[in-house]
Amino acid sequence: MKVGIIGSGIVGRVLATGFLNEGHSVMLGTRNINKEDIIKWKKENDNGLLGSFQETAQFGEIIVFAVSGLAVEDAINLAGKEHLSNKIIIDTTNPIAAVPPENGVLKYFTTLEDSLMERIQKLLPDAKVVKSFNSVGNAFMYKPDFNGLKPTMFICGNDDEAKKTVTDILTSFGWETEDMGKAEAARVIEPLCILWCIPGFIHNRWTHAFKLLKK
Ligand SMILES: NC(=O)c1ccc[n+]([C@@H]2O[C@H](COP(=O)([O-])OP(=O)(O)OC[C@H]3O[C@@H](n4cnc5c(N)ncnc54)[C@H](OP(=O)(O)O)[C@@H]3O)[C@@H](O)[C@H]2O)c1
Repeated sequence: MKVGIIGSGIVGRVLATGFLNEGHSVMLGTRNINKEDIIKWKKENDNGLLGSFQETAQFGEIIVFAVSGLAVEDAINLAGKEHLSNKIIIDTTNPIAAVPPENGVLKYFTTLEDSLMERIQKLLPDAKVVKSFNSVGNAFMYKPDFNGLKPTMFICGNDDEAKKTVTDILTSFGWETEDMGKAEAARVIEPLCILWCIPGFIHNRWTHAFKLLKK
């Protein structure tokens, strides 16, 4: 598949490399292809392409949103809504506010009656948005190694076919997937990032992932 990654931070770069390793064609989208991190990524991934957000949106059959939560709307406008319609959008973003955590608890600019994913879906009503990858640190997004135990990725979204495609991608990336239903479920999947970060901020422990135990 042709995968367009909108956002070149650590999440965008890690997922871009993961998709390349799985044999997909990848364009990493950024506002500035001359950034040091991008040049280094390109040297290490010479079959990966670089482009603007718009070129990346045009290129991708599947799109990954990997920008700062506060920048999502700007990024969509730069990408061009017309280039995103009807496409699967893997939404990795979290609505982290621009204020420090309180006792290790991140602050969000959304409430429990709303989510960033639902805002994205409203901005792009024709797109098939699937929440994924937001509840784990980037070091574990691709082929997480927990001594043979597969962690769980919680996903949600309104389009069942899109969720099936994302589940297949997650399986190839080494994850077990739990489909939590429609877009409203992002109201609880997004705050999992707050929980995931607490041991990091309080004890400097960042090497964990969630698993749903089932009987
Ligand atoms: N870091 C993690 O381990 C982790 C884990 C799970 C989820 N997430 C979520 O994944 C997303 C990406 O995280 P990250 O740590 O890789 O990077 P980040 O620092 O949150 O975001 C960097 C990206 O945002 C873009 N950006 C910033 N301001 C912008 C603006 N005004 N307009 C358009 N684009 C703008 C940057 O574009 P340029 O490429 O042009 O610089 C860059 O690609 C975030 O929503 C984060 O909450 C992060």
